Amino acid sequence: MIPPLRIGRLAVDPPLVLAPMAGLCDRHFRLLVRRIGGVGLVSMEFISSEEVARGHRGALRKLRFSDEERPLAIQIYGKDAARMAECAARVEELAPEVCDINMGCPANKVLNGCAGANLMADLKHAAAIIAACRARLSIPLTVKFRIGTGRGPDPTNFVELGRICQDLGVDAITLHGRTAKQMYSGRADWSAIARLKQSVSIPVIGNGDVTTPDEALALFRETGCDAVMVGRGVLTDPWIFRRTAAALAGGPVPETTLAARREAIVTHYRWIVEQEERGPAMQKLRTFTGRYTHGIPGGRRLRQAIASVPAPEAFLDLIEGHFDALARGEMMDGAS
Ligand SMILES: Cc1cc2nc3c(=O)[nH]c(=O)nc-3n(C[C@H](O)[C@H](O)[C@H](O)COP(=O)(O)O)c2cc1C
Repeated sequence: MIPPLRIGRLAVDPPLVLAPMAGLCDRHFRLLVRRIGGVGLVSMEFISSEEVARGHRGALRKLRFSDEERPLAIQIYGKDAARMAECAARVEELAPEVCDINMGCPANKVLNGCAGANLMADLKHAAAIIAACRARLSIPLTVKFRIGTGRGPDPTNFVELGRICQDLGVDAITLHGRTAKQMYSGRADWSAIARLKQSVSIPVIGNGDVTTPDEALALFRETGCDAVMVGRGVLTDPWIFRRTAAALAGGPVPETTLAARREAIVTHYRWIVEQEERGPAMQKLRTFTGRYTHGIPGGRRLRQAIASVPAPEAFLDLIEGHFDALARGEMMDGAS
């Protein structure tokens, strides 16, 4: 039995965390994952401190969340310590359970501004940002980083950054077991997560390449980490936390039924069409719901059809028609 993750005064139970993912972890997806259950903490996609300072409408819209999503972490990024502290203060006003600092993003747009994982090349600067945010926050603070930049004189300085976080009063840290140079290639190095766990006394959240409940259990077992964070694995399987929570509790792992998949797709569909213009709605429908059809009979054919539907109404007809046919026992041998 794995105890709840303690982030300051917050108990994250079960100790399973939805990873922040830009363009994906919006409030609809977070709510969907929360309603399915089994997730202890959901993360918002990263928010630019510069955009918040400028009052950028898109960034302010992204910051919205509902009480039902709680406990929730808002992740911020930026290169300027004073701006980051201002942004942290703004986050505090919104009263999420956790404020998280991104020090792991390898994306060029972010790195060019010397933020994200680039901060691992300058730990003094990283420390200044953490200290400035800590000083403005009374809610728990976490920092998410990678093994290192993968470049320069000290390519894998995650232990040093973990100790800096601990000394500066950070409540928990997340390690994605890759360097920034690796982006998403190769396998995540779980032994680095184990090393970090042995090197600090604050909680460590392990992250990288968990796509099944068995892999989540293996990450706990092999690293001793205090919680497991899942990113890409949730996109095709929003039920992964529910199933992993069942495995952690020692019970049987529930299968995801066709009825549950249908309900998730239709629910997500309704939220999107209620709140988006038609163009962005179609894009979102294809991004999200296409993924939930992986693993269902005839899924490949359905995704091909989804790719060319012209309007949201036609999308719903396709989904309903497909699941009705499956309920009648048709298409059960189609490629998933
Ligand atoms: C599309 C996408 C967007 C991401 N956006 C963020 C982000 O905003 N902040 C962050 O810290 N990490 C971000 N990540 C990294 C994930 O949080 C996670 O660390 C990484 O995907 C490894 O975990 P996984 O193997 O479970 O996916 C992103 C990853 C993906 C695939």
